[in-house]
Amino acid sequence: MASTAPEAILLVGGKGTRLRPLTVHTPKPMVPAAGVPFLTHQLARARAAGVEHIVLATSYLAEVFEPYFGDGSALGLHLEYVTETEPLGTGGALRNVSSRLHSGPDDPVLVFNGDILTGLDIGSLVDTHRTSDADVSLHLTRVSDPRAFGLVPTDPTGRVTAFLEKPQTPEEIVTDQINAGAYVFRRSVLDTIPAGRPVSVERETFPGLLTEGAHLQGMVDSTYWLDLGTPHAFVRGSADLILGRAPSPAVPRGCGERLVLEGAEVAPDAKLTAGTVIGRGARIGAGSEIEGSAVLDGAVVEPGARIHDSLIGEGARIGARTVLRGAVVGDGAVIGADNELHSGARIWCGANLPPGTVRFSSDM
Ligand code: GTP
Repeated sequence: MASTAPEAILLVGGKGTRLRPLTVHTPKPMVPAAGVPFLTHQLARARAAGVEHIVLATSYLAEVFEPYFGDGSALGLHLEYVTETEPLGTGGALRNVSSRLHSGPDDPVLVFNGDILTGLDIGSLVDTHRTSDADVSLHLTRVSDPRAFGLVPTDPTGRVTAFLEKPQTPEEIVTDQINAGAYVFRRSVLDTIPAGRPVSVERETFPGLLTEGAHLQGMVDSTYWLDLGTPHAFVRGSADLILGRAPSPAVPRGCGERLVLEGAEVAPDAKLTAGTVIGRGARIGAGSEIEGSAVLDGAVVEPGARIHDSLIGEGARIGARTVLRGAVVGDGAVIGADNELHSGARIWCGANLPPGTVRFSSDM
């Protein structure tokens, strides 16, 4: 990296509603991905880019972050925690923590959404910010189907020209560039966000700055990028970390197709493939097949179960011969034997599904 990395703010206070029931007891950044809370990957990547001081802006289930990460020294970081009394939104959260920054008014401050898995070259975003002398620089990524996203068109020099709401018609798709959730702010710009009320950085701060004539610079970087906001994406991200498709210094090297954590018991003939992780103390029964899935700590998979692209919460139990495809099972839930749960099924924490209750095929 060409220049010294700035300090950073990580936004980790969202309710994570799209990820429920995984976020019922655990805030989204603390849900394990590839064996550690997802936030660990972001912290480790920021540290690898030279960042040392990070302020975590917390709100929902705020109390769980500090006991786990402490002062950050285990990761070579100095971490601080600031909790909102009422959720302040993405922009309000930034303003609320700005007094903890040590940077001068013109210094760059990195900001990361706490649910993005990306190979972004953080140093190059900071360099883009410095060389373009922008007020805010944004990581932009290209998506094949922009309909589900707010769009961020830029001019030929990369300067942002508009922030457009989700396009409703084909004519409104003027670019495939979207906000990728990583920014560099000139520190003095953070201090202009209104204090003490909810503010959305995406819907209020950025469009407002543009109207006032501020310089917002986009940096399109088409490296690996995934918003882990939905169960399907979260499971995919965890598997990609294990498979090495998504880079993180917090994943053990060379784990190949699977990562089995300490104290897990896996039957010798169980097949674990495509980036599957088995959590601490989990038990995997004979003849089971688990593909591209995350089985969290203490969960039990009984013999002959087949699990694809699914997440099994802490201490949950999956009965013998049960088939899960694209399903999420909340912490402590029990799925009896011979069930079939397909795409998008969400089983709530502690639920109990008796044997042979839900099927997508005949049982004979
Ligand atoms: P959904 O409810 O599923 O949309 O998830 P979310 O609550 O995480 O919202 P979203 O994905 O839009 O949030 C983007 C980032 O901002 C995430 O890292 C959130 O943790 C964070 N965030 C959202 N709202 C707040 C807030 O009010 N306070 C703080 N501190 N962070 C927030």
